[in-house]
Amino acid sequence: MSKIATLEIDGKKYEFPIVEGTENEVAIDIKSLRASSNVITLDPGYKNTGSCESAITFLDGEKGILRYRGYSIEELADKASFLEVCFLLIFGELPTQEELTKFHKDIKGQSIVDEDMKRILDGFPKSAHPMGVLASLTNALVAFNPSSVNVDSEEDMYKAIVKILGKFPVLVAWTMRKKMSLPLNYGDTSLGYVENIHKMMFQQPNEDYKVDRAVIEALDKLLILHADHEQNCSTSTVRIVGSSHSGLFASLSAGIAALWGPLHGGANQAVIEMLEAIKADGGDTSKFILKAKDKNDSFRLMGFGHRVYKNFDPRAKIIKKAADEVLGELGIEDPVLDIAKGLEKVALEDEYFISRNLYPNVDFYSGIIYRALGIPTDMFTVMFALGRLPGWIAQWKEMRLGKEPIGRPRQVYIGHTHRTFKTRSER
Ligand code: SDX
Repeated sequence: MSKIATLEIDGKKYEFPIVEGTENEVAIDIKSLRASSNVITLDPGYKNTGSCESAITFLDGEKGILRYRGYSIEELADKASFLEVCFLLIFGELPTQEELTKFHKDIKGQSIVDEDMKRILDGFPKSAHPMGVLASLTNALVAFNPSSVNVDSEEDMYKAIVKILGKFPVLVAWTMRKKMSLPLNYGDTSLGYVENIHKMMFQQPNEDYKVDRAVIEALDKLLILHADHEQNCSTSTVRIVGSSHSGLFASLSAGIAALWGPLHGGANQAVIEMLEAIKADGGDTSKFILKAKDKNDSFRLMGFGHRVYKNFDPRAKIIKKAADEVLGELGIEDPVLDIAKGLEKVALEDEYFISRNLYPNVDFYSGIIYRALGIPTDMFTVMFALGRLPGWIAQWKEMRLGKEPIGRPRQVYIGHTHRTFKTRSER
């Protein structure tokens, strides 16, 4: 017998089924609410509202748990490759060696971008923010791949998936190379997926490319850690844009735009800018802690706080440890890492942050590794998008295959009630 929730409005009772997930999350299914009571719910920012049932990623904000398809983020970051995690998120299972080899081969077969895309890139000034360039180029892919995905065809869906996994890294590399005034290039299909990405991004036109294992492993781990995060702002954007049956590439472009915001993926760039400002100001973190706590000051401690995690973001723990390892292996001393650790220590002992459960999130330390890898600061969120791509694809695919209805929230109207038109002479 399924449990029910009872709502009483003006003395009348309404009953709604209770839904329980596989991790015992409980929700009230209000699909019949408006039809039965003519009442809606109101929940700005959807802090209490589930948009869907999903089988892709589970996170427990109180316990600091994150799992992709049931596998813990700690194990995946430690034992899997990013390409394996792409397969896992999108198709639901870790691939066999044979499946992984075919997946990579099919992706490599799609890793050429139409030469005319370069003309679109030419139109941007070097000063253009890479996230705006990437969102535009991703949307432009539709022009060169006009047929939208027939989601009822497994083969068509698979082709679209390997196409975007092949072409997106090229767009990421070209976005960076445009900014660095380097010639637009292609990678090398004899390399691994992440090695090839790194080569496309960093190969100097007059030098041979040398693979640095420590760098590739760090990049692979960062991409895994960013690969999905259930119904965050940009993923919800990809799902709602896709729910109107807009194509996959157009939906991804919308997700990139949402991720760009400094409250979301853009925070990784904002964190480094904040840490640099603290360094330039003499390294006194207490001044910035005071600003973050001051309600009259719009300054926020970037990289701190999270809508769901009210405990440590498990990704932040892994990235913080990786930052020490990578900088050590590369022999880099970055004073900004020490400032970040100092800031974390002070904040975690401060009542303001403790009482609001504000801990470092995925963006707090990631920029320190990107910087050590030679990635420009305004490219950090592009790297976040590169990591999040398989998650966005998996979530879009789940939404479309689940035949979900078009997303269309209601509202509570608080504007003028009816009034008659006044002529100009009457106003
Ligand atoms: C990502 O959702 C996801 O899963 C996202 C993500 C993913 O993988 O997709 O995890 C990636 O976006 C991580 C978050 C990156 N953003 C930042 O680091 C920006 C700084 N953090 C915040 O702006 C904020 O914490 C949010 C946006 C992340 C969460 O905001 P909420 O859930 O809307 O919380 P809130 O703004 O209502 O804050 C609650 C209280 C407020 O104080 P009071 O009004 O209760 O007095 O905490 C305060 C806030 O002022 N607060 C902060 C703070 N974050 C929250 N105060 C100072 N510094 C901060 N960073």
